[in-house]
Amino acid sequence: MKTQDYINREDKFGAHNYHPLPVVLERGEGPFVWDVEGKRYYDFLSAYSAVNQGHCHPRIIKALTDQAQKLTLTSRAFYNSVLGEYEEYITKYFGYDKVLPMNSGAEADETALKLTRKWAYKKKGIKDGNAKIIACDGNFHGRTISIISMSTDPDARNDYGPFTPGFIIIPYNDLNALEEALKDPDIAGFLVEPIQGEAGVFVPDEGYLKKAYDLCKKNNVLFIADEVQTGIARTGKLLACDHENVRPDILILGKALSGGVLPVSAVLADDEIMLTIKPGEHGSTFGGNPLAAKVAIAALEVIRDEKLAENAERLGKIFREEFSSIKSDMIELVRGKGLLNAVVIRPKNGKEAWDVCLAMKEKGLIAKPTHGHIIRFAPPLVINEQQLMEAIGIIKEAFKLFE
Ligand SMILES: Cc1ncc(COP(=O)(O)O)c(C=O)c1O
Repeated sequence: MKTQDYINREDKFGAHNYHPLPVVLERGEGPFVWDVEGKRYYDFLSAYSAVNQGHCHPRIIKALTDQAQKLTLTSRAFYNSVLGEYEEYITKYFGYDKVLPMNSGAEADETALKLTRKWAYKKKGIKDGNAKIIACDGNFHGRTISIISMSTDPDARNDYGPFTPGFIIIPYNDLNALEEALKDPDIAGFLVEPIQGEAGVFVPDEGYLKKAYDLCKKNNVLFIADEVQTGIARTGKLLACDHENVRPDILILGKALSGGVLPVSAVLADDEIMLTIKPGEHGSTFGGNPLAAKVAIAALEVIRDEKLAENAERLGKIFREEFSSIKSDMIELVRGKGLLNAVVIRPKNGKEAWDVCLAMKEKGLIAKPTHGHIIRFAPPLVINEQQLMEAIGIIKEAFKLFE
């Protein structure tokens, strides 16, 4: 079978809820992937920042295969010999009392919403049914009904109503709007992405997160950070909130928590919050399974042992510097932190971000437009400087085609 045969088969038998770049991948290693015709590419999406540790990292794959031969799933009806080890490891790693393990990012976000409401009724004393959560314009927290009820993106929302009530939407990066919204005594939490990834890598003003956190504290409101995309070394620190020394009350992680090997997500919080949920009040058949637990430990070890946050910080600066030197009137601006970056594309002669991505693919680098006119550049964090420079060379060559 050739590339087009694979594409046709997916098109015929799969739902049409994505619009992939026309490349069919069958193998990955570190920052590289290979297509079914044997062509090698730099992966500059990293499965939306899930593959921070690089494709098929040997240590993570070993943890997976070792555990897969012993025990994969018990459900939480019973204890298993690995979950406690993982819970101790991840809580110490991020500095929280407790973890609640889930699978997808959306599930972890849902968990955080439920936890926030529970805390509001059990601890803050908000009248039952009245709790509200503030979220931001342009947010992306996943695809479930409650989560898209917070969304302001028509593609995510249209024709999916009725929506879940209890959300207040304010502009992102706007402290006055937050201060105003916090005047409502029924506000339980403020849910925020430290950098808005899916919206197009919007980096808020320096000091925004810290000031937002302080405003939440002043009003006895939980500061909830969705670090599903920004977390785990992507932005040059372990967490994007670390750039401003903010410790969220509730921390949401996913994606790179497994190095892209399995869906593994987590919610972290201290006892005062986490213990408001009692047995039987929340759960997941697969959440906390021993396979995921071993994989997540290995994935976090790789981040620390290979100093991937430091690498992202250093190479991110080089990437933005090099990109700024590309002479192309299609490049409107470059923004980002660490190795989470985006370029805003100005269309030229009918050519758009999609055409740039097709050109880069031809030359051996894959990335994907978001919202039509923005290209995100987020390679695996194991990429080295020489590889990064080669990749930037490919990007430069691609832009030249449109001059
Ligand atoms: C910030 C953020 N939260 C949540 C999610 C949802 O994660 P998942 O696709 O694993 O449900 C994403 C996915 O892109 C995300 O970027």
